[in-house]
Formats: sequence, C-alpha cells, structure tokens
Amino acid sequence: DQIAILPGQSTGVWRYRAKVLKGPANAVTTIPGSYLGPIINVRRGTRVRVNFINELPQPSVVHWHGLIIPEAMDGHPRYVVPPGGRYTYEFEVRNRAGTYWFHPHPDQLTGTQVNAGLAGLFIVTDDEERALKLPDGERDVALVIQDRSFTSDNQLRYVGNGPGMAGMMSRMNGFIGDQILVNGRPDFSLAVERRPYRLRLLNGSNSRIYKLAWNDSSPMTVIGSDGGLLYAPVRRTYITLAPAERIELWVDFSTRVAGEELTLQSQPFAASTGGSMMGGMMGGSGSLPNGAEFPVLKVRIGKGAAISEKLPGMLTSIAPLRPEQASNFANPRTFRTTMVGMRWGLNGRVFEMDGVAKDEVVRLGSTEIWEFINEASMGMMGGGMPHPIHIHGVQFRIIGRRVQPAAISAWHSLNEGYVDEGWKDTVLLMPGERVRLLMRFDNYPGMFVYHCHNLEHEDMGMMRNFLIK
Ligand code: C2O
Ligand code: CU
Ligand code: CU
Repeated sequence: DQIAILPGQSTGVWRYRAKVLKGPANAVTTIPGSYLGPIINVRRGTRVRVNFINELPQPSVVHWHGLIIPEAMDGHPRYVVPPGGRYTYEFEVRNRAGTYWFHPHPDQLTGTQVNAGLAGLFIVTDDEERALKLPDGERDVALVIQDRSFTSDNQLRYVGNGPGMAGMMSRMNGFIGDQILVNGRPDFSLAVERRPYRLRLLNGSNSRIYKLAWNDSSPMTVIGSDGGLLYAPVRRTYITLAPAERIELWVDFSTRVAGEELTLQSQPFAASTGGSMMGGMMGGSGSLPNGAEFPVLKVRIGKGAAISEKLPGMLTSIAPLRPEQASNFANPRTFRTTMVGMRWGLNGRVFEMDGVAKDEVVRLGSTEIWEFINEASMGMMGGGMPHPIHIHGVQFRIIGRRVQPAAISAWHSLNEGYVDEGWKDTVLLMPGERVRLLMRFDNYPGMFVYHCHNLEHEDMGMMRNFLIK
C-alpha cells in the first residue's frame, strides 16, 4: 500500500491528512468530523509506503507506535523532517493483528504536536484474527480518548514546558487538560445496536491516566491490548489506561435493554503519593486533575431486536513466558526514574540525540529482562509520579510487578485495572512500583529509544537511546 500523509494546519489545529495512492481504497479511513488523523488499515505482511510531506511550521517526524520496523522508519528524533521537507517511510508490517498508532516524535516538540492534533490509528488484521469472526464493520469501533484545554475563544491551549507556575506544573505532572474528548469531540455519544461490539480504546492523551468503568459497574471483557489479541478474554471491573496504551473490549450490548443509556466513566484514583515536598502539587491543578472522576462517553442502546453472538474462549496462541531464557535472568538491567536538576530522567540521564551509554547496548537476537523502578515519593532519586514507560523496536511481556509498602494504597486505587496478560509496548509504572519486562531483540538492529510516554516528561528528556547490535 502506498499512502501519503500531509500534516497541515487549519485554525490552530494540526492534522494528518492522507490519501491512498496505490492499493485498496479502504487502506485509509477517517474518523468523521474529527481533527484526528486517518486510520490506516493494513493486513499483516503488507509492505506499506508512506510519503510524508511536512507542511508544518516545525520539524516533525512520524513514529509508528508499537510497530516493529527498521530504525530509519521508526521516527527517531534524529530523522526529523524540516518544514517543507519530505520523507518516505517504507516497511513491512510484521506485527500481529492489533491496534497501533502513529504520532510525531521530534525532540522536545512531541507534546506540542500531539496536543495540536497530530495522531492517527494503524490497525493491523491477519488471518488468525479473521477466523475468530469478531464484530467488524460498524461494530468495530475505534475510540481515541484525549484531554484538552481551550481558551475562552475556543482555541487549543497548551502549557507544555512553558514559563511560570503553569509551566513548572506541567513539567512535573505533564499536561492535564480540563475537557475530555473522544475521537476529537466533547460529550461523545455512541449509538449501538443490541449486538456485541469490539471497542478499540487508545489513550491518546499527553499525560492523563484513565480508570475506565461502566456506570452500572458491569464487568468488562478485554480481548486485546497494545500488541494485539490476548490468549483468552479476561475480565476486569475497570481498566487502567495510561498514555499510549490500547485496550480492546468485547462488549455484548445484546443483553441490554432497548433504549437504555450507559456511561463509560473514569473513576477516581490516587495519581501520586502525597506527603512529599512536591506531593501537594502533583496530579495537576485545574478543575479536572489527573485522578478525578468524570464521564468519558455515553452509549445509546438501539431499539431493535437483540442478536447474540459467542466470543471464542481462546483468541490466539501466545508462547508461554520463559523468563529463565533471558541472558540476564539473574541480573536484569535496571532503569530508575530520576529527577536531576528539576528534570525527569532515566538512571540520572536525560535524552542525548546520539548518546548511548555502555549499559544501553543490547545484542541482536538476545532475550533480556528489563526492570523499571519508580520510588514511592519524590526525593533526590525522583519518584512520586506515575510514568508510562514505552520501548521502541520491540514488544514485551510483563513478568512481574512489586510495590513498596509506602505506595500500596495509591497503587490499589488502580492496579486491578492493569491488563498485563498480552504483548505490550507501554507499561504504567506507578509511584513505588517496579515492573519486570521480558523481551527478545530478534527483529532489527539499530538505535531506538525508550522513554516515558508522559509527553511533557519525554520532551523534557525522560528518554534515552538504546542500541541493538
Ligand atoms: Cu508513542 Cu516513542 O512513542
Ligand atoms: Cu513508540
Ligand atoms: Cu514520566
């Protein structure tokens, strides 16, 4: 498939526009009436070519979040395209069927550009998934959840790492908007038939975490996460969705009363461990701090006859975890969240365009365990804040979490909503939590990044290169 994407500017909103140059017309679909970018739909195994033409007033680069592609295609900030410049992304889609996405990744400007509107979905299908006969067409719905702030004349307002108290808050917490948008719209409402649906949720927010639950607390059936389908459906009473994470729900609206209305809410949770010097400031100020309770969207159930369908009990084969196969099983690589000179970082370092430390080099073909550690409260070593950690160039499995006693009550306010069962590329690291990831670097060599997907943290330097060779 060959696709052109042209980010352009209109009324302060930046958007990706796309058209299919070659290949099936449905390779690109749009979210009607939204500033959000197109949805790129491809089958596994397809070679995709995207001609990128940068019509923005800033340098930009496209990152294909979750896709396993060569370094030069991955959107590393080194491959930034100047205003007016062009770049051709060309890669084979090797990933499993699933919900991936794309967004800008220029050094220090990612938060600005994503907030301005640049983000789109990249949906992969394959034969294995098709055989499951999951709800499709109108019943396969993508929902991108974001928070934004607007000025009194309805323009996007972004603080980013700006000056003054607001900038300081946003450096600490990340940008927290006070309006919740779904697919670019406030007060989003979805009309459904009384049949099962597949809902693909992406948290496309810069830094807000959602704790999603139905208002009548009916259980949620999860069928997929970042890297595609789970081995089998799992149930949760709520879903914790950190920035950049995706979740796929199978929702049976056939059991609902005709004409009923349902609300998907974000429930309250502790977004930081208070008590520390900075504790009072964290979570963000404003009318809707991180961890506040609010409605996300409404579902209106149709009046037609109910049609039920069965969800298969097994979805896909996923190799069992074998952590003992990791070359560093006895001594995992550790990465600590840090704060040095008022800048978030990893292991005391911040982003350097070409810099790779000795302990950031991995061998091509190796299997490793990486452990990320976040302190319970803010001190010299960082801590106290949630950080959604994302790694490029790989999909990983979550093999363990541990939490410090001091952070346990905050952790319990959202940990039951984690979906750690499947393949992941982003993992939420709460204050006081340590997470172990198992991954195999058997795809492409090259320099990739790992970073906090709180975009203001990333822009501030909470990002590092690692080299696969
Ligand atoms: Cu979704 Cu490196 O980013
Ligand atoms: Cu990514
Ligand atoms: Cu962070």
